[in-house]
Amino acid sequence: MEIDGRTRTCGLIGNPVEHTLSPVIHNTLAQRFGHNLVYVPFPVETGRLAEAVAGASALKLLGLNVTVPYKGEVIPCLREVDSLASAIGAVNTLVAVPGGYKGYNTDMEGLYRAMMTEGIRIADEEMILLGAGGASRAVAYLCAVKGAKRVYLLNRTVEKAQKVAEEVNRSAKRQVIFPMALSDFNSLPERKFLAIQGTSVGLAPHVDDVVIDDAKFYERVHTGFDLIYSPWETRFMKLVKENGGQAYNGLKMLLYQGIIAYELWNGVKVSGEDADAVYEKLKEHFI
Ligand code: ATR
Repeated sequence: MEIDGRTRTCGLIGNPVEHTLSPVIHNTLAQRFGHNLVYVPFPVETGRLAEAVAGASALKLLGLNVTVPYKGEVIPCLREVDSLASAIGAVNTLVAVPGGYKGYNTDMEGLYRAMMTEGIRIADEEMILLGAGGASRAVAYLCAVKGAKRVYLLNRTVEKAQKVAEEVNRSAKRQVIFPMALSDFNSLPERKFLAIQGTSVGLAPHVDDVVIDDAKFYERVHTGFDLIYSPWETRFMKLVKENGGQAYNGLKMLLYQGIIAYELWNGVKVSGEDADAVYEKLKEHFI
């Protein structure tokens, strides 16, 4: 693509931003659509986030992604916030609106679309969610919004799981999240579950770590979805497979959070073929 007087800019704000794969997603999509658009990383120093968002609006940047540590802090800088993002308290995508930006959480919609494309359902399912940190809390909201029947939220510190459960159940106006201590997994109902791994335990370079190591737990898992994509196969995924389950990493979640952001910025629908092409490009960074 030739950069000219009409080129629109999107980008990523965060700190640090050097290791991001988002430019691969958006610049590949721009090329495939023939859009005159570039996507670049913008490191934002501590204390300068509000200036960065106001400056982006003044420069008429078409859209921004937001990463660590600003996904919560960015909310007061926005004109509007989508309801799921607002409930979760985390925004990863800004879409230009008159006078500023509207915030969305495409991380969670991306996880949902990734699961759908793999044929993994949430609606009416009984599930296990591991961890009660920021990412798992967001997944708990997603599961509640998408109609999960029951989510057993297993965490090392049960009090934290209880806090997340209370918050999400109150917001959902029904009992959907059931908090449990990790060590109590034996008291789960006798059946197999979809399990989502929402902690950073097992992330490279700590590839031998796993939240729960007991094979007995994995006998209860028919499908394991790890939000981590580096390493390509986490220890959690290995244990799921060793016990007869199907396991997925988080790269498709990364892919679809980007695709949904691209769709919001450009008012297009990304086809399955385009999604596959971007996925192949992302995979080159791992295998
Ligand atoms: P966030 O999503 O907020 O970034 P994280 O740091 O990735 O959070 O993960 C935090 C989660 O991982 C918590 O649920 C934490 O359990 P506690 O609430 O008991 O601290 C869980 N966690 C971290 N290390 C763990 C370990 N060694 N074993 C089990 N769970 C662990």
